[in-house]
Amino acid sequence: MMADDREQKESSTRKRVLLGCTGSVASIKVPRIIEELFLRISSVEIEIVATEYSQKFFDVTSLPEKVKVHTDAEEWQTWQKMEDPVLHVELRRWADVLVIAPLDANTLAKISHGICDNLLTCTVRAWDLKKPLLFCPAMNTNMWEHPLTSRQVTTLKEFGYLEVPCIEKKLACGDIGYGAMAEVSTIVTAVKEAIS
Ligand SMILES: Cc1cc2nc3c(=O)[nH]c(=O)nc-3n(C[C@H](O)[C@H](O)[C@H](O)COP(=O)(O)O)c2cc1C
Repeated sequence: MMADDREQKESSTRKRVLLGCTGSVASIKVPRIIEELFLRISSVEIEIVATEYSQKFFDVTSLPEKVKVHTDAEEWQTWQKMEDPVLHVELRRWADVLVIAPLDANTLAKISHGICDNLLTCTVRAWDLKKPLLFCPAMNTNMWEHPLTSRQVTTLKEFGYLEVPCIEKKLACGDIGYGAMAEVSTIVTAVKEAIS
């Protein structure tokens, strides 16, 4: 096989997953999501967009070196003048799929209303709707059962985003009920299906 053909084949099999994470306690599972994506999707490349609060739940420095983590500060460090790249637009171009796991109540509310005040919400707002966007809600049961939640989830589904539904279990806060993020294996299966 010629080098050009090989390069073309590699780029057609390569899958680029952009993982958005937010300030839900379920962000402790971000390292496991990454691990399972690498295990189950061949030729996958992963980059992360982490909100400020999501970083309270996992150690960014513990992730594999090949996984780039993008933060709000970087968006403004990389843009200084007109010709400079705009990070949220570059990420939209780079990714084949965006999966927001976990999606907390705050970011759910923001993206359902078009608010874009950080790197993750700007990436969502600038997303190419021809590419899949998956979201995995994770919140306290009372937050989940509030009437606003189902309205906002419905809005996201109307945009064409794919919900990976939350599950019922004993939550980190001790409450029992719906609101827990889907299992890691369920999320990775959904990502795999979305990009296959
Ligand atoms: C310990 C702790 C755990 C939290 N877990 C959740 C959660 O599971 N789901 C949620 O919607 N909010 C949760 N929150 C609240 C969010 O962190 C808060 O709304 C924050 O502003 C979210 O910001 P972000 O959406 O920009 O990441 C938690 C807060 C704390 C202090």
